[in-house]
Amino acid sequence: MVAFMASSQPEWWKTAVVYQVYPRSFAESASAIGPTPGVGTLTGLTERLDYLAWLGVDALWLSPICRSPMADFGYDISDFCAVDPTFGTLADFDELLVQAHARGIRLILDWVPNHTSDQHEWFQESRRNRTNPKADWYVWRDEPANNWLASFPRGESAWEFDEARSQYYLRCFLREQPDLNWDNPQVEAAMHGTLRFWLDRGVDGFRMDVVHLLGKDLALDDPPICQEKVWGHVPYNDQPITHERLRRIRRVLDEYRDTDGRDRASVGEVYLLDEAAMADYYGDGDELHLSFNFKFLWAPFDPAELAIRIHATVALLAERGAWPTWVLSNHDVPRHRQRYGGGELEARMAAIMLLTLPGTPFMYQGEELGLVDADVPAERVVDPGLRDGCRAPIPWDSSDLHGWTADPWLPFPPEAEVRNVERQLGDSGSILHFYRRMLALRSSTPALQGGIGASEFQLLKGTPGLLAWARSDGSQMWFTYINPTSVPQGDRGEMEGATVVLSTDASLEGSVVSGALPARVAFVARRDGTM
Ligand code: NOJ
Repeated sequence: MVAFMASSQPEWWKTAVVYQVYPRSFAESASAIGPTPGVGTLTGLTERLDYLAWLGVDALWLSPICRSPMADFGYDISDFCAVDPTFGTLADFDELLVQAHARGIRLILDWVPNHTSDQHEWFQESRRNRTNPKADWYVWRDEPANNWLASFPRGESAWEFDEARSQYYLRCFLREQPDLNWDNPQVEAAMHGTLRFWLDRGVDGFRMDVVHLLGKDLALDDPPICQEKVWGHVPYNDQPITHERLRRIRRVLDEYRDTDGRDRASVGEVYLLDEAAMADYYGDGDELHLSFNFKFLWAPFDPAELAIRIHATVALLAERGAWPTWVLSNHDVPRHRQRYGGGELEARMAAIMLLTLPGTPFMYQGEELGLVDADVPAERVVDPGLRDGCRAPIPWDSSDLHGWTADPWLPFPPEAEVRNVERQLGDSGSILHFYRRMLALRSSTPALQGGIGASEFQLLKGTPGLLAWARSDGSQMWFTYINPTSVPQGDRGEMEGATVVLSTDASLEGSVVSGALPARVAFVARRDGTM
């Protein structure tokens, strides 16, 4: 077992591959059955850490584990400083952290600062009357202040009438998720306190939920386009004051780094479908460490489109010395294999893309198995946002319950009897082994861990048939070639003479790039030299 060196690699978040765990669906414990059979637990995750270490990921992001009535499956928090009993106890969490660190794996938690559960004691107090000490901790108005719509269920007003106060409160998500009033300094201080609670326990950072919503201008009405597309780039959720708040959040994280030299990282869910707006959330290196890039996530698997997104991201972030992230799947969107047409070949090509782009890749649990979404029949739909399919439980083995102690809370993804961890571990040609090889290659290759400077990264091709780029560490050139079309490509350019190291077509590995480049193939190739 490799001991985790707490002070090594201060900027660990630049070279890490982060793996998102959705705890409800990840794993149950074989020894300590949780309170809800068929729902994953922290101990279940701890027992699977060896699998994750074998796979080769460097950090885990856990979707929310705090106490919650689960109206939004944990994104409605009723106590930021407690573990929900469904998942276990604080002691289970501490053990998970110790065991992850012992394997050199960092742990980041989901922090949900925009809203709480309506069952949180802050809201219970706030809604009692208009004069209590927390009366102004949420956003209360006599009348809806604008025409904003809530995200879930789609189409409802974001203003909810409350009988007790005879006033409306703002809820950008479910009615059970009232928005906190970040204009109130007491709220800001209390939320900083929730960060410190987990930082004191030793976590390595946070994924920050809808963090672009921390500042809002209630005077702005949504334009009609935003009434149709709730998740669109709306004027109210990109306000200058948010950046001041992020700088103060960053100072809390940096205090911990200043004590022991180890960065506590933040990655923001900045759900603005605009790269320039997203880039602003890095500030001058004093806001988020990392920000998710949703414009890239939503791009079709089309080389020309992807090249546009990669170019825009790299150009904007290079200007500010910021570090990109790349993510294709998470617990909110249909899995990318499905979005890309359903083929495993596309999933393997996407793995090469995700893991050789310059920046920090985020994987979503199960993508290493090539999972698509579960087919969830109407009577088993539980999510008010209709995102159940991508949250299906991980099939661990070929038995009837696939490694779970009871029929899980959601149906399994398709082909679970063959597309499961046990089966793929035993098949060296499986997509699971392919991901592992790609992760190992990345972590042993300095050029694949470099940045986006002009001497480190160059986008070579972005035509309808070919996506290609080069990376360099000053002595070696590494090329990524992705051709999802059925048309071979003639233009080898700088790739000429490079040796294929890893490919979706294993028969190409070890060959030298020359002649026409094949169709329906992705590969990584290496040659000596510099850009
Ligand atoms: C984004 C989270 O990823 C999603 O699952 C959640 O429903 C909303 N934020 C509200 O917290």
